[in-house]
Amino acid sequence: MFPDRGSNSSKLFDRALNVMPGGNSRHTVYFPPYPIYAARGEGAWVTDVDGVKRLDFINNYSSLIHGHCHPEVTAAIARQAGLLTAISLPTEAEIELAEIICARMPSVDQIRFANSGTEGVMMAIKTARAYTGRRIIAKIEGAYHGSDDTAAVSTYPHPGRFSPPESGIGIPEPGSAPGSAADVLVLQMNDVEGTRSLLRAHGTELAAVLVDPLVKNLAYQPASIEFLTMLREETKALGALLIFDEVYSLRLGFGGAQELLGIKADITAMGKIIGGGLPVGAVGGSAEIMSAVYDQREGKARVSHGGTYNANPLTMAAGVAAMRLFDRPAFERLNRLGDRLRDGLTAVVEATGADAMVRGAASIAGLFHARGGGQTYRELAKVRMDNPDMSRKAELFFHHMLNNGVLMGGPGFFILSTAHTEADVDHVIEQAGRALELIKAGKA
Ligand SMILES: Cc1ncc(COP(=O)(O)O)c(C=O)c1O
Repeated sequence: MFPDRGSNSSKLFDRALNVMPGGNSRHTVYFPPYPIYAARGEGAWVTDVDGVKRLDFINNYSSLIHGHCHPEVTAAIARQAGLLTAISLPTEAEIELAEIICARMPSVDQIRFANSGTEGVMMAIKTARAYTGRRIIAKIEGAYHGSDDTAAVSTYPHPGRFSPPESGIGIPEPGSAPGSAADVLVLQMNDVEGTRSLLRAHGTELAAVLVDPLVKNLAYQPASIEFLTMLREETKALGALLIFDEVYSLRLGFGGAQELLGIKADITAMGKIIGGGLPVGAVGGSAEIMSAVYDQREGKARVSHGGTYNANPLTMAAGVAAMRLFDRPAFERLNRLGDRLRDGLTAVVEATGADAMVRGAASIAGLFHARGGGQTYRELAKVRMDNPDMSRKAELFFHHMLNNGVLMGGPGFFILSTAHTEADVDHVIEQAGRALELIKAGKA
């Protein structure tokens, strides 16, 4: 049973605390009182260092589209590991992965690879600034785009520091350059008219609007089609660019969320699933934008883009294998599993009368312990204030799932992989129903 202070995981955490602040290098892997340490993964399953097996419904926050150690991905990595892992020459695997992604994504003619989604977003921002010669990046309050200073503005602003929404003023994240918010315009999610006026007021200096079509941090709030259409029209009219952050959302459509939504971005930041589970990031866009910014022949590249591990052959080989496997039938089957999970979770919320809501799309689902929702960061902050027991319920729910064979994202996230079966999904639904009943009865 978790937590167990005598467990191997607990002992490892104590050891880790001696040598790493907070005991790790990635704050999202921590949960109180100590995180479970993984020993191995196999398909949909992960086994921890105490020998407990659970269904993995986090899938490394989406990067493991085929679960753990898919035989074809593993074989591609092993083959490549015996040939070359890193080298200061290009390899054919980089072209292959670029061809696969460019063929799938209508707005991406050309792409460049990096090693994380953070870098993909950073390169997207630099591309927009270099191409337009302008400075301002507009982003949605509360949307997480990685750790780049510009992208991180107002990701987790404290409600006590909110500026009036019509000011667009953002707050640098702690540790960012103090001036990083000066070139950022902060927008409220799905506020069509407020955003339109803000963009117009800053039109001549606006380089780009950066948007994630399904914001995890906003309890999987989708950007409305009206909002995205307005962003597309306004950026075009103002001579600015539209950046889609598809690091997370790429799995929503076969050609990314933008294919599903019918909106063509100018620049797309990518990561996660395109690396087959290995570290990856990318920036892509039209040939006109990409070659104007990055083509280094005749010494004319506007943005310098190096990186010792960019397009390393190991990641490229894993990415090629994973993306080939993620064909239309696999994509459609996975989305059906996602529908089954969301429908099942909705049914148990209704059956138990729990104060909870189910959100998500395609192969992503979220169960959050308050009703009513809220679209913007500010509305969700109010929902949290009005429901002070939300985080306690989320923790009880998470512990119940953990102790009944399901590893999920603490705040309520479930992310599927092609390794999951209908039975796996049904197990989650059943345990979610039990957890909600126990919470309601005060017995969890
Ligand atoms: C929407 C979005 N953008 C960017 C990132 C950053 O990607 P990475 O963690 O690979 O740096 C993430 C990571 O979760 C993300 O969800």
